[in-house]
Amino acid sequence: MLRRTHTCGELRDAHVGQTVRLNGWVNAYRGHGTGLVFIDLRDRFGVTQVVFDGEALPKDTLDTADHLRNEDVVAVEGRVRVRAGGENPKLATGKIEVEVTTLEVLNKTANPPFLPDDTGGGGKLANEELRLKHRYIDLRRPSMQHAITTRHKVYQATRRYFDENGFLEIETPILYKSTPEGAREFLVPSRNIPGNWYALPQSPQLFKQILMVAGCDRYMQICRCFRDEDPRADRQAEFTQIDLEMSFVRREHVIEMMEGFVRRLWKEMTGYAVPPIPVMPYREAMERFGIDRPDTRYGLEIADISEIAARSDAGFFKEALAKGADRPKFNSQRGVVKALRVPGGAEKLTRKMTDGYNEFVRSFGAGGCAVVKVNAAGELETGIAKLLAPVKDDLKAALGLTPGDTVLFVADTYAVCTKAMGELRQVVARDTGVVPKPGSEGGPWNFLIVVDFPMFEKNKDTGKWVAMHHPFTAPRDDQAEAFVAASVDDENTIESIVSAGYDIVLNGQEIAGGSVRIHDPRVQSKVFTLLGLTPEQAKEKFSFLLEALQYGAPPHAGIAFGLDRLVMNFLGTSNIRDVIAFPKTQIGQDLMTGAPGPVTDEQLKDVHARAIRP
Ligand code: AMO
Repeated sequence: MLRRTHTCGELRDAHVGQTVRLNGWVNAYRGHGTGLVFIDLRDRFGVTQVVFDGEALPKDTLDTADHLRNEDVVAVEGRVRVRAGGENPKLATGKIEVEVTTLEVLNKTANPPFLPDDTGGGGKLANEELRLKHRYIDLRRPSMQHAITTRHKVYQATRRYFDENGFLEIETPILYKSTPEGAREFLVPSRNIPGNWYALPQSPQLFKQILMVAGCDRYMQICRCFRDEDPRADRQAEFTQIDLEMSFVRREHVIEMMEGFVRRLWKEMTGYAVPPIPVMPYREAMERFGIDRPDTRYGLEIADISEIAARSDAGFFKEALAKGADRPKFNSQRGVVKALRVPGGAEKLTRKMTDGYNEFVRSFGAGGCAVVKVNAAGELETGIAKLLAPVKDDLKAALGLTPGDTVLFVADTYAVCTKAMGELRQVVARDTGVVPKPGSEGGPWNFLIVVDFPMFEKNKDTGKWVAMHHPFTAPRDDQAEAFVAASVDDENTIESIVSAGYDIVLNGQEIAGGSVRIHDPRVQSKVFTLLGLTPEQAKEKFSFLLEALQYGAPPHAGIAFGLDRLVMNFLGTSNIRDVIAFPKTQIGQDLMTGAPGPVTDEQLKDVHARAIRP
């Protein structure tokens, strides 16, 4: 084989006159049958034009070149010369071409189902299903090669940063034990211990805590996590975390280390100097943006107008406000009225859109979405304007209304209203064009650290408490005693306890989440009681952790970044499949390998399992 001396992205005018060898795939060909054949030769590093000149070549070489087709694999030897047909400024190698003296066809290709040229060869990218089925061709596309390279750079920058900061990279098991951490698990039957099952880890959470008890001090791992939940645009059932844990630290120390990491990563990947990241309490995020991961690239803030609404003529406002009136402020069951002022909405939002919003908020359990517009004279009109007449001046002042605005209202319990408004705000932002389009490197970047999450929230369907982060998250340092002392029936107090958890949010997406962990057995057993686990059940599920925590656990805390999401941001894509070499579809299939696939009865028997066939 004519082994390459250079890659297809390497040659420049300084190489003119040299004899070189290139290996690669035929990316395009021109001039067949004319005695002068041009081939664009492609590898991971770029594209170089190579020329076969019939006058200077043996006939059989020209013949072979004449029959080359897209995606054939070839090796060429030749001389670098200044490009005879003039420079191609689109190519890094565009000043030169290689005049071929020897051609070796390394492999012919079958007719490919599409071409890896970012437009599928027909000016349009082939459909994703076809591309996932033939991922080996899809991955040859320059943009996919760029994605894979970007991901690789994220791994390397991450390892460098954490190594410099004294973290040890430690692998934790993939065959693990079923633990209730939140999502549904993937199960693997055991052959040696009939009737027992491994579970794939949702995260290495418990192992990393145990590594702290084990004196490892600082741990990091780029690890695979498995959650049997439906994939979404930024979610896969199998995804990658940058996972870490630190000993002898409190919340602020982890946050400081993470800010350092974010700053370093963005500097290395994009050149952008991340300014100090603002910290926002959960409550403030919910009040202003209706969501715990607000997109702060645009305003559109939500206002609580309960007090004004109570004095209006709108019966449905009063009805909502009567709900849970004896509950404390911000309690999930207390009635509230919230408003979203949409600047310029009178023009930007059509009737069809606002009718759609009415349906949209209903999907979150709200009764509907009321509307008014502000006319050129600054007066409220249309929608519920009449019902607001008694409070119109207060409303105008509270919301800072100006002519051309539209105001959207939702009235319901705090939990329903906040959720509906938070979701509506994002739709309105898209509809009115205030969400900035990402630049070529994904920016603008709006980072936010959200803290002071409630420890617990009530599951809507079961009415049971669930840990908002996970059951090993500690209450904020100043809340621990109140938490231990609170009666399990005192709903208002339990709901008001905040945790020592933190999330990092970027442009409205959660890119990392973590917490200070519980190392006090009293606090841990109170959490289990609240979650409805008896001491026996807790012991059965987490005995190894609870036991380990008894033997000199240092105070510890950690966090995990969603690596796939970081890479998505660097590439400016909203599709997580674009940043994973072999991703799964919306229903968790790998279209290339055909996973998941059936197994034989013998295989099942081996692992003491039987299938219930549909
Ligand atoms: P958490 O569940 O918040 O925390 O996950 C941490 C980060 O992982 C990313 N992420 C995902 N990315 C892609 N697909 C998914 N299905 C998916 N689920 C989560 C998010 C998220 O912020 N053990 C804790 C961390 C800790 O407490 O230290 C944990 O797993 O970016």
